[in-house]
Amino acid sequence: MCGIVGYAGENSAASVIIESLKKLEYRGYDSAGISILGSGINTYKSVGKIVNLEATIPDEISGNIGIGHTRWATHGRPSTINAHPHTSGNPCKISVVHNGIIENYMALKEQLTAEGYEFKSETDTEVIAHLLHKHIYGKPDGREAKCELLTGLREALKEIEGSYALAAICADEQGKLVLARKDSPLVIGLGKGENFAASDVTAFLNYTRDVIFVNDFETAVLTPTNVEIFDREGKAREKKIEKIEWDFEAAEKAGYEHFMLKEIHEQVSAIHNTLAGKVSELEGTIDLKELNMTDEEIRKLSRVQILACGTSWHAGLLGKYLFEQLAGIHCDIDICSEYRYRSPVISDGTLAIAITQSGETADTLAAVREIMSYNCPTLAITNVVGSTITREANSVLYTRAGPEIGVAATKTFSTQLTLLYLLAVKFALSRGKLSPNYVKGFITGLRKIPGQIQQILNQKEAVKECAENFAQAENYFFLGRNLNYPIALEGALKLKEISYLHAEGFAAGELKHGPIALLEKGTPVVTIATRGQTYDKVLSNIKEVKARDATVIAVADNKDTEIGKYADVVLTIPQSSELLSPLLSVVVLQLLAYYTALARGCSIDKPRNLAKSVTVE
Ligand code: F6R
Repeated sequence: MCGIVGYAGENSAASVIIESLKKLEYRGYDSAGISILGSGINTYKSVGKIVNLEATIPDEISGNIGIGHTRWATHGRPSTINAHPHTSGNPCKISVVHNGIIENYMALKEQLTAEGYEFKSETDTEVIAHLLHKHIYGKPDGREAKCELLTGLREALKEIEGSYALAAICADEQGKLVLARKDSPLVIGLGKGENFAASDVTAFLNYTRDVIFVNDFETAVLTPTNVEIFDREGKAREKKIEKIEWDFEAAEKAGYEHFMLKEIHEQVSAIHNTLAGKVSELEGTIDLKELNMTDEEIRKLSRVQILACGTSWHAGLLGKYLFEQLAGIHCDIDICSEYRYRSPVISDGTLAIAITQSGETADTLAAVREIMSYNCPTLAITNVVGSTITREANSVLYTRAGPEIGVAATKTFSTQLTLLYLLAVKFALSRGKLSPNYVKGFITGLRKIPGQIQQILNQKEAVKECAENFAQAENYFFLGRNLNYPIALEGALKLKEISYLHAEGFAAGELKHGPIALLEKGTPVVTIATRGQTYDKVLSNIKEVKARDATVIAVADNKDTEIGKYADVVLTIPQSSELLSPLLSVVVLQLLAYYTALARGCSIDKPRNLAKSVTVE
């Protein structure tokens, strides 16, 4: 989740853009950069926070038009070369900043390289700069513009697949910058004698509160005194000017009361982004280049060893079920703090998978070093490009959740699950356990998940009401079976972390082996009762709970007409396959934890005693 900024006005573009980028740092800041339009294009970049960039910009820099970027790496490690803006032409003719993911960048890169364009970075964005250059100047050393920047942009966009909010400037078109958007946020701010563009309004709230939200497939031209917006066909559009009433803090959270709630909502785009470029519904294939394993190597695996802590461990537990059920491959999972000290037996043909959103958890790094000392190939699943785990593991798959600021993991968890689904199905395909036809159906279902999460979010008031009714409970229990057992554990962890309520998660069938002694009249027992092979067994468990006068809060499919006979409260999710239901049921449990903590007046984004990355063993 990067942040882009554009400025066209009377003031120094560099100072306005630096101030605006500082306001966007919460979107991620592994590196940053700026391009200013003057007699040519001057570009400055640096690694780290915006103050580092500020220090590299000479005081005497002039120019009233410019673009800037703060980066949260998705393709290519954090470095000055990979920092935006990306440029094309010698001397530089085009400069581009971009937030989003270009899914077909590899194919475009090959094509542009064959045409003589030289790539300096490992990013997907650089293809946009060269593509724009090609459409305007015809060839890498072209000097004469053959069309206007906006026309070149429209032509370039026809070739790009993926998501983007982008801003570009051209050395031969003074006084303006152009913008385009698809599936990534972009907003224009209207000032007097100056106009702004950014990924969100926080960037320019100090300058103006009058804004225009750019929609998908729209392009725009910004000059100091004018803003023109065009639709997909290039027809000029009249757009509504809106007034932003939020203060800065509310704007940073896009109007949500807490980062955690914002991040629960962002799961819709985070899962979509994590899938981008990795699945083909048409062919029933899964493309995980980053895995660096041939089908033959996948077939030769005898075991998967998952290593993780906390919420990531819950994701890993679901991964174990998936690898065994779908791919028929033996899978072990360990809590990292235990792994080193239990003298594990590591057999040939094992692939280790370390799951860590931060990439910095000391216990996980220690377990990874232990297993790698046996020459066991290790794959990391993480959200942070350039984190320690990415430098140590043999290969890395990134969740593309964007920075997660709330301490309780939400969108990083569901995107970890997304990658584990892809890995398990990929392994199953390579090992001949699933047919491409089955995989087509699976991908269709997976692609529906973001929309179904949105449906759950649209009904969050029902979860809120339930949370408020039980916010004063002393103990809370969470039950699930099969693929929803790890989700029950995660639901309990979320609740205890942020509401400080005592909560335990159990495999529903295990209740009768001890924990049932804890049930009292009115104890809330959240039971995941989605349709599937263990549904009837879950109903029996619900009856056991009811027989002890405890209160059952069921998470069930919205088409289930039976569950209401047994449960006291039913929170529904849209119907999906049994296989994919954990991606939906977890959202209800995250909302339940959030609203319980809210009702109890807890510090939701920074719960007591917890840290976002745990760097001590
Ligand atoms: C819970 C949570 C923690 C982390 C755990 C591992 O909401 O965030 O339980 O999951 O500390 O952290 P990572 O995934 O960074 O290794």
